[in-house]
Amino acid sequence: MRHPAGEHPLDPSGYDAELQRHDRLLRRACGVRPHDHVLDIGCGIGQTTRAAARTARAGGALGIDISASAVARAREIARTEGLGNVTFENADAQVHRFPQERFDLAISRFGTMFFDDPVAAFANIGRTLRPAGRLVMMVWQPRERNEWNVAIRRSLAGPDGPAAAASAGPDPFSLADPPAVKEILGAAGFADIAFTDVHEPVYYGPDVAAALDWVHGFTCTGEALKRLDPAAAARVVGRLREMLSAHLSDDGVWFDSRAWLITARRP
Ligand SMILES: C[S@@+](CC[C@H](N)C(=O)[O-])C[C@H]1O[C@@H](n2cnc3c(N)ncnc32)[C@H](O)[C@@H]1O
Repeated sequence: MRHPAGEHPLDPSGYDAELQRHDRLLRRACGVRPHDHVLDIGCGIGQTTRAAARTARAGGALGIDISASAVARAREIARTEGLGNVTFENADAQVHRFPQERFDLAISRFGTMFFDDPVAAFANIGRTLRPAGRLVMMVWQPRERNEWNVAIRRSLAGPDGPAAAASAGPDPFSLADPPAVKEILGAAGFADIAFTDVHEPVYYGPDVAAALDWVHGFTCTGEALKRLDPAAAARVVGRLREMLSAHLSDDGVWFDSRAWLITARRP
């Protein structure tokens, strides 16, 4: 339900702001070194790619994303910031022909949950890692443990029931189950697979209007509103506004969230 496949409007502060509390933990786990070559999977507009490139001064970072508009924006920001060791590729990480054994580290901030065939995708990523290369990624824990998703779905569904909020799109919770992920990564050739519980809130904006704007960009919101007549759509927006108001505190709109920080290694 989270803006998969780059369908979210490219507000440069949006996703970076939402995940500000997660980003710190991801960076620490990545432990990028000055000579590293880093691959950022599903990089979006590239905040994590640029951060990796800044640390990998003698190496570099490649961000890959299936969304052409996200990659165009990522390139633009990197150019504006004058970063010379970061590049971006508009491609599907599941099938892209990466150079073999090129990268020391593959990272991802919520960009690996949308593969059609996760074993094939992670095997493809594994082939571009050097022996002993690491994979460090953040993914959502199950839907029920993510207050933001439960609250939004409830608002979208309202008295019309959950069908109104059903989304046929890619599943952001597809890597939520550790045993299943262990099986996927193991089948893809990874070892030393470990999970760390990340319990940090997500930020939706400084006020209700900004948060509503952000939620409007979610695939599930767009799909639900598209199916409704104008009066019913207005009721949904009213419920969303009320729900977001209930989550407004002095420093903006926040929701509880649970993620896994997953680490693994190519043998
Ligand atoms: C939730 S967003 C996260 C973006 C970015 N990592 C960040 O933290 O700002 C997921 C991203 O994964 C990308 N994505 C989805 N499927 C992909 C695939 N098969 N290959 C590459 N990127 C993909 C989407 O286009 C989207 O930009």
